[in-house]
Amino acid sequence: MNIPQLRIGNLIATTPIVQGGMGVRISLASLAAAVAQEGGIGTISSIGLGDFDASHGDYERVSREALRQEIRKARAMTSGVLAVNFMGVLRNVEELIQTAVSEGIQMIVFGAGLPMRLPKIVEDASVNLVPIVSSARGAELILRGWEKRFDRTASAIILEGPLAGGHLGFTPEQLEHLPDFSLESLIPEAVEAVKPFEDRFSHAIPVLAAGGIFNGRDIARMLSLGASGVQMATRFVCTQECDAAQAFKQTYLDAKEEDIVIVKSPVGLPGRAIRNRFLKDLEKVDRLSIHCLYHCLTVCKVAEAKFCIAQALLNACQGDIDHGLIFCGQNAHRIHEIVTVKELMSELRDELQAALNESV
Ligand SMILES: Cc1cc2nc3c(=O)[nH]c(=O)nc-3n(C[C@H](O)[C@H](O)[C@H](O)COP(=O)(O)O)c2cc1C
Repeated sequence: MNIPQLRIGNLIATTPIVQGGMGVRISLASLAAAVAQEGGIGTISSIGLGDFDASHGDYERVSREALRQEIRKARAMTSGVLAVNFMGVLRNVEELIQTAVSEGIQMIVFGAGLPMRLPKIVEDASVNLVPIVSSARGAELILRGWEKRFDRTASAIILEGPLAGGHLGFTPEQLEHLPDFSLESLIPEAVEAVKPFEDRFSHAIPVLAAGGIFNGRDIARMLSLGASGVQMATRFVCTQECDAAQAFKQTYLDAKEEDIVIVKSPVGLPGRAIRNRFLKDLEKVDRLSIHCLYHCLTVCKVAEAKFCIAQALLNACQGDIDHGLIFCGQNAHRIHEIVTVKELMSELRDELQAALNESV
């Protein structure tokens, strides 16, 4: 069997890999364009962009403009498939989405929050809407709501399991019972859940598996479970093209399995990160003082939050590791070198092809 293409609406990726959006400023034009150029789908993260200090109080305008520039930069580097990732908890998420659509982005990926109004924000039916969910129930809830209110459905679903990096759609208690939430059980359930919508809307709704996928063998296993492709993020951090500072990438290379922990984020969700000096300091004081500059999240309770997540993620991407939150997937400790995106994609394709050959 040959490596299957991934079709999302009118978009075709010759390799069924979506590079997951990574905020803040971890997946920008450089990484996304490199992945798209290699036949995958490259995702720009829309959060925390632009120069806050130069914004003169109008940070939302500055961040929209910065997203516009990032999309144009990526587009100048590739004619491959580009997506933009949005977080539902961001205060200016609607304006950011409209900016991406006005720049011709054809795939909107929406995580961290229920995208119930997304078809209203993006009325152009030719733009592909791709929600991130953590269960078949979540997928059904969104698709039923969209069908009822907008007579529209998703172009694909990303099912993100509990081994992913960044914010997770699972409770801390669920994360202590990982085997109950394996992609092996979640993917077939999600594939079943989207079927009635595929029938009613007469088009495929591919399910993409995400969270802890490390090599081509893992991708083959996800395809055998009914997924049409995968979303991978952690592996792409240790590439030359990744937009994070070198020190951020080095933290991944140095991490041991026991350094990878779950943290409580001001977003209201648990997140997976590397236990570095920043997290150790936080453990000692329980709460860092916050001077809220960004007002970025609808859900952040500044008086109760243990730290400013915007500042911690900005510090991290800029290489101030001791004061930064280093999000990562559960398998980050298995990465030992920095490679080019071309090398990584080629390795993943070779492993996937070998695994597909074995299975026939
Ligand atoms: C550093 C980092 C930042 C992330 N930021 C975001 C984000 O801003 N929005 C989002 O939807 N997912 C985010 N994620 C999740 C990824 O897009 C992806 O779905 C997940 O990490 C896949 O698992 P993997 O990293 O094990 O491959 C992030 C992941 C990492 C590692």
